[in-house]
Amino acid sequence: MDKIVIQGNRKLSGEVTVSGAKNSALPIMAAALLSEKESIIENIPDLRDIQTMIRLLRALGAKAQYQDGTLAIRPGKNLKPMAPYKLVSTMRASVCVLGPLLARTGHAQVSLPGGCVIGPRPIDLHLKGLEALGASITTQHGYVHALAKKKLRGREIYLGGSFGSSVLATANVMMAAVLARGKTAIESAACEPEVVDLARFLKKMGAKISGEGSPLIEIEGVKKLQGARYSVISDRIEAGTFMVAAAMTGGDVLIRKADPHHQNAIIDKLKQAGARIDKGKHDIRVRRSGKLKPVDVTTLPYPGFPTDLQAQMMALMTVTPGISVITEKIYPDRFMHVSELNRMGAKVFLEGPSAIVHGIKRLSGAPVMASDLRASAALVIAGLAAEGETAVHRIYHLDRGYDRLEVKLSSLGAKVRREKE
Ligand code: EPU
Repeated sequence: MDKIVIQGNRKLSGEVTVSGAKNSALPIMAAALLSEKESIIENIPDLRDIQTMIRLLRALGAKAQYQDGTLAIRPGKNLKPMAPYKLVSTMRASVCVLGPLLARTGHAQVSLPGGCVIGPRPIDLHLKGLEALGASITTQHGYVHALAKKKLRGREIYLGGSFGSSVLATANVMMAAVLARGKTAIESAACEPEVVDLARFLKKMGAKISGEGSPLIEIEGVKKLQGARYSVISDRIEAGTFMVAAAMTGGDVLIRKADPHHQNAIIDKLKQAGARIDKGKHDIRVRRSGKLKPVDVTTLPYPGFPTDLQAQMMALMTVTPGISVITEKIYPDRFMHVSELNRMGAKVFLEGPSAIVHGIKRLSGAPVMASDLRASAALVIAGLAAEGETAVHRIYHLDRGYDRLEVKLSSLGAKVRREKE
């Protein structure tokens, strides 16, 4: 296992290019199963989660070849509709093969994803949506068995939950509905850019979808889909991570291949925190020379502040004079980074789903442990601004979702290296 070692207290400056979005690429890869024919997907980031999804596609009988950011997927005629525990347990997003397998083969057997370090993540909404389309669903021996005796049928489906809406439940139901008979309306659909990206890919395959990006998505089922060539959007969470790092270190960074329309929530909060932000057409420049100011943040479904940037934003708040409050509305337990930040001298107190952050002058570098993907990113950012050396252990979490983060940070002047444990 590797660790990342950071010599802190250095400003980031220069240009960095954002990779393709992991959370777009994963469901789009699953969607390719909806056709027998080959799809070519470009701008796929080189990540551990992508490798896991490639292994899953192969286990399902598809051919998949990845080279230099381009992935060719050829599902062929005969899929084996069974997603094993060994793959699903390492990556929850594997659950998004459920909809495509059911629509293509009338049958899917997918391991229940189970627990997750960021909190309980049930899949009841995925199952409710697929049942509404006519599948009968049972869970046995840790597996979901979904069976459609007849062709799936379009329906009106309400997918809202007490937290808002679910990205992957929306994706799963949308993917099943594109091959269903008749019209489906998904109400309280997730509006995230990754859902829009998936819908665009499906439309290139020949699906009939409208309303993506709004809470009402309408789908007219078609008989068959073709393969398609598509390029995924850039990763708004990776872009946001660089934005926070630039602001925290008092640096000046031009983030290329970032879509400013997807970053409005983080732009707003970083401006309030005292950063200056210039939006280009496909890039964002973040700089800060003045003092940091406290901000309060509540995570919400898009276009609200993303939960996937909560930990990074907390790192920034730890060195912001005054008191800032973070409220986590998507995963009320997603605070594994708090105790590690506190080991670096931060003063963060948990009160239910809120974290009260008392800003200190400077963090002090320390050995810390990564617990999940975004917590890892927060610890790296904290290390960049801290006094002395920080070693972030268990870095495999970071490799699940950040494409060569240490290389990109080094190109911005950070002193970061990867070492074997
Ligand atoms: N939920 C339910 N029932 C369901 C599905 C979800 O109650 O059937 C609840 C969850 O408990 C949670 C909320 O819905 O409160 C959203 O969570 P969900 O598990 O549905 O999220 P997701 O769609 O599986 C995607 C991203 C996550 C990101 C969330 C929220 C992918 C592959 N994953 O997950 O990304 O945090 O949306 O925006 O797209 C990450 O990249 O680090 C990551 C965790």
